[in-house]
Amino acid sequence: MCGIVGYIGKRDVAPLLLEGLQRLEYRGYDSAGIALHTGGKTGGLKTAKAKGRVRELESRLPKRFAGTVGIAHTRWATHGAPNDLNAHPHQDATGKVAIVHNGIIDNATALRAKLVADNVEFISDTDSEVLAHLIGRSTAETLEERVREALRLIEGTYGIAVLHADFPDRIVAARNGSPVVLGIGEKEMFVSSDVAALVSHTRQVVTLDDGEMATVKADDYRTYTTEGSRTSASPTTVEWEAESYDMGGHDTYMHKEICEQPDAVDRVLRGRIDDRFSTVHLGGLNLDAREARGVRRVKILGCGSAYHTGLIGAQLIEELARIPADAEPASEFRYRNAVVDPDTLYIAVSQSGETYDTLAAVQELKRKGARVLGVVNVVGSAIARETDGGVYVHAGPEVCVVSTKCFTNTAVAFALLALHLGRIRDLSVADGKRIIAGLRKLPEQIAEVLSGEEEIKKLAALYADAKSMMFIGRVRGYPVAREASLKLKEVSYVHAEAYPASELKHGPLALIEPEVPTVAVLPDDDLLEKNRATLEEIKARSGRILAVAHQEQEKADHTILVPRNEVELDPILMGIPLQLLAYHSALALGRDIDKPRNLAKSVTVE
Ligand code: F6R
Repeated sequence: MCGIVGYIGKRDVAPLLLEGLQRLEYRGYDSAGIALHTGGKTGGLKTAKAKGRVRELESRLPKRFAGTVGIAHTRWATHGAPNDLNAHPHQDATGKVAIVHNGIIDNATALRAKLVADNVEFISDTDSEVLAHLIGRSTAETLEERVREALRLIEGTYGIAVLHADFPDRIVAARNGSPVVLGIGEKEMFVSSDVAALVSHTRQVVTLDDGEMATVKADDYRTYTTEGSRTSASPTTVEWEAESYDMGGHDTYMHKEICEQPDAVDRVLRGRIDDRFSTVHLGGLNLDAREARGVRRVKILGCGSAYHTGLIGAQLIEELARIPADAEPASEFRYRNAVVDPDTLYIAVSQSGETYDTLAAVQELKRKGARVLGVVNVVGSAIARETDGGVYVHAGPEVCVVSTKCFTNTAVAFALLALHLGRIRDLSVADGKRIIAGLRKLPEQIAEVLSGEEEIKKLAALYADAKSMMFIGRVRGYPVAREASLKLKEVSYVHAEAYPASELKHGPLALIEPEVPTVAVLPDDDLLEKNRATLEEIKARSGRILAVAHQEQEKADHTILVPRNEVELDPILMGIPLQLLAYHSALALGRDIDKPRNLAKSVTVE
């Protein structure tokens, strides 16, 4: 959510920052801007900003716009409409300070009122501009102290990078609740909110902690707390390659990421299966067998698609480990003063590892002494670092705003965790073997589903006229229906509802008519007959039905066939064709698939 990139070195900074912004555009794309030092002690700052995408900014850069130090931003609006004035970087009244800011300043209104009373003129409607003026008004000797003074006055979250005309040899950065990473190069340094902007230049990174600041010079960096005490942050190597951020010959990242799933699933399984004991090894779990046996409940917390994988995870844990388990939106959990039980194992699930609501739920749980594990994709992210242990999902970078491969890999990671817990408890060797065999089949079976893309594309065109879509499933099929409904809404903007099939006749059946088709998730499990009865009810109301099933469904108008696996793993495979359905529906409706309206990746604000 919003992207920051900064550079200090010897190279021409504007093209570098534009390239970085393009890589970060998935985090926000309603306006963008750059500020740079024009050079030397006598030079000042120049800025360029534009509403819209980064390419808009590029086309509007002034002719003379050169320097070797600069900061840039791509925005997802929170305070103030997306327009040129609200675009970052923001400056103080003298024009000597330029800042880019991710996060939200909660007391911005009060601070703004004080500054206005002091005759400060504001140019934008943003909360961030307050910070530029506060830094600009400080008379402290060093830039670091000026930033520190300003930060002391603000309440809220931030990831910032600051330039000052009088301090051309440095960028000052700070983090509280919004990610900031430093990229360490050869006589050049980068600052960013996301490694995506850095990996084509360096894979050596330093991730700032909350409450940490950094002074970044071309050949050196220093980190310290916002109180000024030095911290020792040594660089780590990013495991993701620069190429994994490229489109790789696909028209969209969403398509690329859907197609990558056989390899991604292979990665999450690799090196973890233990055939000898029919279990799996999860190195980072930090939960020994005795502790695992002591778990009385599992509560999974996540948002959006991550929450939906949590629903699948809870079912898998109940089925394989026979531990009562449920999932809840992290965004709700953190506000309801939940009873925190010492025998409950809490699991935070997040692709980015930065989602504010999930992170806040983790922090609340930790404060109350709970044990919290993470199921996370981004290594070293805030949630990965704040949890007591966990499972990485190894999906590789997910650039498309809507989650696909991470959803699938996270569901597989939950299957591994459930198997592990199950084999410590009462899951038999035979059942362990059966699940392992099923897991091993997944990459090939996903590839088989993906090979049916042309058929799914035709179906998407047939159903693209729907005024709304109903998605239903029973038990194992229900989280799949929920996720498929979210996917369709996000990328195609077609209204969709998801219900447990068993709930249809308790109300939503009233919506069924030919213009409101139903997508039914129908695994060949012991609920198939009940599901068929639900299809009868829909047909009796002239509803059209598209089934996702293991066998042709007589009552459905169309059936997408999915290969059989172990019943417990059905949700993993059955979601795949529905990702393609959402994708092709969006394509048929001419949507901007990788950058759906109003959305951005990584929701790092409340
Ligand atoms: C949906 C989607 C979102 C995210 C949610 C949580 O396609 O991508 O619903 O799943 O914002 O994000 P993470 O997993 O990064 O915590």
